[in-house]
Amino acid sequence: MIEELFGEHHQEVQRRWGAALEKTGFDAVLVHSGTPLVSFLDDFEYPFRPNPLFLYWLPLTHHPDSAVLFRPGEKPLLCFFQPDDYWYLPPADPESWWADHFDVRVVSDATTWKTEFAQKMPTNTAAIGDAPSLNAVFDRERINPENLITAIHLQRTRKTPYEVACMAEASRLAGLGHRAAEAAFMQDCSELEIHQAYLSASGHTDQRLPYHNIVALNEHGAVLHYQGRDREAPPQSRSFLIDAGCTVNAYCSDITRTYSRSGGLFAELVEAMDTLQQSLARRVCPGVDFRDLHLQAHHGIAGILADTGVIRVDAEAAVESGLSAVFYPHGLGHFIGLQTHDVAGLIDDRGASLPRPEGHPFLRLTRTLAPGNALTVEPGLYFIEALLRRWRESAGEDAVNWAVIDALLPFGGIRIEDNVVVTDAGCDNLTRTAFEAL
Ligand code: GLY
Ligand code: MN
Ligand code: MN
Repeated sequence: MIEELFGEHHQEVQRRWGAALEKTGFDAVLVHSGTPLVSFLDDFEYPFRPNPLFLYWLPLTHHPDSAVLFRPGEKPLLCFFQPDDYWYLPPADPESWWADHFDVRVVSDATTWKTEFAQKMPTNTAAIGDAPSLNAVFDRERINPENLITAIHLQRTRKTPYEVACMAEASRLAGLGHRAAEAAFMQDCSELEIHQAYLSASGHTDQRLPYHNIVALNEHGAVLHYQGRDREAPPQSRSFLIDAGCTVNAYCSDITRTYSRSGGLFAELVEAMDTLQQSLARRVCPGVDFRDLHLQAHHGIAGILADTGVIRVDAEAAVESGLSAVFYPHGLGHFIGLQTHDVAGLIDDRGASLPRPEGHPFLRLTRTLAPGNALTVEPGLYFIEALLRRWRESAGEDAVNWAVIDALLPFGGIRIEDNVVVTDAGCDNLTRTAFEAL
């Protein structure tokens, strides 16, 4: 049970914050959940996204104006904002499985944390959050100190069993949504209908999703973060790329599948990409430099393009010349956790920058993998008109089979994405395990 793992996780989180505070010379830390933002000249709030470092303490995803105060050696305090409101539903009472680990004060005023905590904060307390009200209490240099945030971000790269269990469940729920979405695609539904089928099957509202679902039919699969939701189904549904996750206690899944409605070259490419993706995911283990794995993905994709006659040069030449990046213009993956694109992917254990390989500006993970890391493995292969045109204009006609490209453009693109966790000896593929058990 996920909830039974929380106590051990909470001990570890306290230990990590304690170490980070000691290292950076602070005596305590206040972590504020955030304050809702109202849209300009209106009275509606933007969807609330809490401070991820508040979520690291607690699974409170819809709780603005709450705060945790942690002083090493003492039970953490939680100021839990529960307004006495009849316009909106106030947050439910704290639940014992997590609340028993805090000294909880339930307050009905958004600023009460200031007086609640005033006597308990040592002078040298750091504050983390973006709430404007922090400015009235803390000197500027004690708000969001970079060294403290970096120290915690580095700790977050090693997931606890509780965090892994939350992400495994987020993969399972997403599996229910993906299965319903695939069925809706096969029944010629529109993008909007497919999206709704996903939400319904996974039990998510739009706001609970970790990121906006990418629900792309046909050519739309070539738009990497396609945000449309066409209400009309196209005259013919040829291909379908869905990139959609779920959240459990604020922990994310980030999963992509691609389907073809007919046989032929596109279907062959989908199958080859699936085989490549699984082979790359199996190579995830401690000691692997993710930059190397990303470059192996380029070689694999270039090999598929050469073998299927999409390009007229061999894989080596395609990677060397930058042609593989025309078809695969993003990184192989990123850390995942409380944030879909989780933190500290581009720094080493001392906080020093780990550069991306030259020519790969969008890679979000350059670290050497270690046990506890949670990451995505998401090779892609797209037919993006703008990038193909630029290639043709700058490098000429020869390396690409343009007749084949013309036949593939209406299918958009392919991405296959799983979430994996590095273990002592290899990795667990949370997504494949969850999907197989459905
Ligand atoms: N869904 C965003 C990504 O795959 O990074
Ligand atoms: Mn994704
Ligand atoms: Mn991703």
